[in-house]
Amino acid sequence: MKSILFLTALLSVGMAKAQKINVPKAFADAGRQTEVLLQEIKKDTLAAKKNLVSPRTVENGKLVMVNSRDWTSGFFAGELWFLYEQSKNEKWKELARTYTEKVKKEQFNTGTHDLGFMMYCSFGNGYRLTGDTAYRNVIIQSAKSLVKRFNPVAGVIRSWDHNGAKWKYPVIIDNMMNLELLFEATKLTGDSSFYKIAISHADVTLKNHFRPDFSSWHVVDYDVQTGKVIQKVTAQGYSDASAWARGQAWALYGYTMCYRETGNKTYLAQANGIANLILTNKSTPEDGVPYWDYNDPAIPNTSRDASAAAITASALYELDGYSTGKGYRKTADKLLYTLNKKYTSKPGSNKGFILEHSTGHRPAKSEIDVPINYADYYYLESLLRSEKK
Ligand code: GLY
Repeated sequence: MKSILFLTALLSVGMAKAQKINVPKAFADAGRQTEVLLQEIKKDTLAAKKNLVSPRTVENGKLVMVNSRDWTSGFFAGELWFLYEQSKNEKWKELARTYTEKVKKEQFNTGTHDLGFMMYCSFGNGYRLTGDTAYRNVIIQSAKSLVKRFNPVAGVIRSWDHNGAKWKYPVIIDNMMNLELLFEATKLTGDSSFYKIAISHADVTLKNHFRPDFSSWHVVDYDVQTGKVIQKVTAQGYSDASAWARGQAWALYGYTMCYRETGNKTYLAQANGIANLILTNKSTPEDGVPYWDYNDPAIPNTSRDASAAAITASALYELDGYSTGKGYRKTADKLLYTLNKKYTSKPGSNKGFILEHSTGHRPAKSEIDVPINYADYYYLESLLRSEKK
């Protein structure tokens, strides 16, 4: 009996050890995949002619490149910055600079809430790693463009301008991610108006976007005459009442980041509540990578979303620093281990994208079970965070 117990203990120690991945090796593998992707981009001469600047995904075996207006245009530059950060190799820095420049004109774009993703993943990381004042100015201008979308009556930043027949003033949970750009702009300028808008958005979203179990609706539509909520619906989830997996991950990351920037314990409690929802969800398989929507009745015969797992892992590494004793770091290690072992592309495949098995927009039958740039971005960010104590 004693020896069986000992063996069990040994095995569990062994398993716990096995869940720590070799970060330099994971980065070297990711670097080799990115070299493949860069070759694929070079071969796509039509993309260059059409001014498509950034790789987004693979569909029907073909590389999909996007223009700088696309919401995902900044992730590839961000990945290149992460590769530079880990390796200190100037080659990655030069490439990161090149791909960061390609999205520069979007600093004046007032037609989307996604400027945080587009400009902070690219210029934000670039500024963090180089201190280049030209990058600083782009971040500030991008924040000025983003706050033009704030409505003081509703107290939130408008997400989309499209689909005017469906909603009046739509705000999506993803929008929490774009607040980081505003917090940074206040730090860079001393102008608190960006910060105030960010916390207004975070507070109003906290009030209106969440159900009692901490799951969130995808889209909340506001009446900007009264500030009242008109409807709570979905765009990318299974149904209005469901929990779209990536949305839950954006919420977790968003409130964790808001706590870092403000020290407001309400945001910390919100992040903990969302983490609990994600980590105890019954529909998520043992490996921790969720199906694209927790409430898709087709589970288990539907697609996973590796991007949601990568975003969650990254957020949990940060949240672990603010909420000790909850085991978030161990859970993040496990998720990252799974992504590394089971969800990375075979070397040279998937046009050079790093992870596979993400779901972009299933209801639109778009990007189902594919590699996608934001999964790769948050995977690399998680790898870097896994090494920080
Ligand atoms: N922000 C859009 C998405 O997560 O698909």
